[in-house]
Amino acid sequence: MSLNIVILAAGQGTRMHSGEPKVLHKVAGMPMLERVYETARMLRPKNIYVVCGHERNHVKEHLSHMDVTWIEQKEQLGTGHAVMQVLPLVSDDDDLLVLVGDIPLITADTLRALTKSVNHDSMGVITAQLQDPTGFGRILRNPDEEIIGIKEHRDATEGERRIKEINTGIIIAPVFKLRQWLPNLKNDNVQKEYYLTDCIALAVTEEFPVVGQLAEQVEEVLGVNDRYQLATIERIYQFQMASQYLLSGVTLVDPNRFDLRGELKTGMDVFIDINAVFEGEVCLGDRVHIGPNCVIKDCTIEEGAVIEANSVLDGAVIKAGAKVGPFARIRPETTVEAGAKVGNFVEVKNSQIGEDSKVSHLSYIGDTQIGKSVNIGAGTITVNYDGVNKHQTIIQDEAFIGCDSQLIAPIKVEQGAFIAAGTTLTKDAPAGQLTISRANQRTIDGWKRPEERNN
Ligand code: UD1
Ligand code: CA
Repeated sequence: MSLNIVILAAGQGTRMHSGEPKVLHKVAGMPMLERVYETARMLRPKNIYVVCGHERNHVKEHLSHMDVTWIEQKEQLGTGHAVMQVLPLVSDDDDLLVLVGDIPLITADTLRALTKSVNHDSMGVITAQLQDPTGFGRILRNPDEEIIGIKEHRDATEGERRIKEINTGIIIAPVFKLRQWLPNLKNDNVQKEYYLTDCIALAVTEEFPVVGQLAEQVEEVLGVNDRYQLATIERIYQFQMASQYLLSGVTLVDPNRFDLRGELKTGMDVFIDINAVFEGEVCLGDRVHIGPNCVIKDCTIEEGAVIEANSVLDGAVIKAGAKVGPFARIRPETTVEAGAKVGNFVEVKNSQIGEDSKVSHLSYIGDTQIGKSVNIGAGTITVNYDGVNKHQTIIQDEAFIGCDSQLIAPIKVEQGAFIAAGTTLTKDAPAGQLTISRANQRTIDGWKRPEERNN
């Protein structure tokens, strides 16, 4: 006996009012379906199936990296009908765990508790107690508290609607039983659908045991039907993450203004100001300081480095004690070495800023290797692109580039060279000397301001 998992994702998601299938909408930067898949994988099932509808190819294309078997449900005739599409592919000896693509925060712990609560001779359903159960299927129990059925909200009586225990839609049952029950489902309900949930009543008539497993946290079982619920779930997830970081010793100035869309590793005494967005894989060393409104994607920031307000970093390594920002833009393949400084309105791409070097104001540094203790004056531009190819700039240790210079690559500024302000450098600058390219200054005698013409 082994576990198979099916994720139902064929629903249209009309209430999202979107051109995209609902399950591709993201929670914390990851499509909901992928999130459920990642959780499903933690249970190490034999196989994971995904039931999709007419948008199947679109979903498949977007999530082609997932190791699943895609199944098409041509018409969406209900959750029972959806699960039936998997039956030809699974064996009677297996158990089938049914998940849904629009309940993204379900945890592996809760799913494991469900799989442990049943054996091949029983079925189980994850339930939850909700203050406001409107819209959900209700769990019906007999006076002995045994589950005897599930009633959809729309089909429920006034009395049944007062029940606060709901069906999360997550069910586990042995395949041989599903094979008996599913073809016998009827669609004589308000929605004219074949409800998976009706299997419960069939099980009860056969005295086949049904176990209810209460979800550990209510938040886990919240579903997404519209963008309001999507935003609600996003905030719940982000607050959960923020709480974990706070409790692990990270300072978050405001846990409500923290967004993680990927993975974040943190050292000791990390400080994160408001409105930080972390994407991809980010690693922050001890005592790193992140100022307000920073967007940081796929970066390693080493101990003691400071990223000041409103900086955007992507694919960079910022070494120990370096300083970046405010208002800096650091693009992929950039290393800012220890003690270096990249200041405001500076864009850096595919470059190395050497130890203790400074690019403090208003510069573009692209495809450039800068050595140690170099000073790059305000307004310096590395002219790396000739319209066809990109070229390299090399600036060796202790060079000084005066303000408003253009370095036309490929070019080299040798060690200790001094480039005068306003220079357009077209040839390599020799070590230790002053290089200047600048029109001579002159003053025109007797010059008069233009006067207004009388027509
Ligand atoms: C379902 C449950 C309800 C439960 C609720 C929890 C049934 C009959 N009802 O209701 O008891 O409280 O979830 O959120 O199961 N789907 C398909 N193919 C279909 C129909 C649905 O793949 O033909 C998928 C949907 O994409 C969705 C999931 O199944 O992911 C649930 O379907 P939905 O129509 O949203 O069911 P609810 O009315 O929410
Ligand atoms: Ca739903």
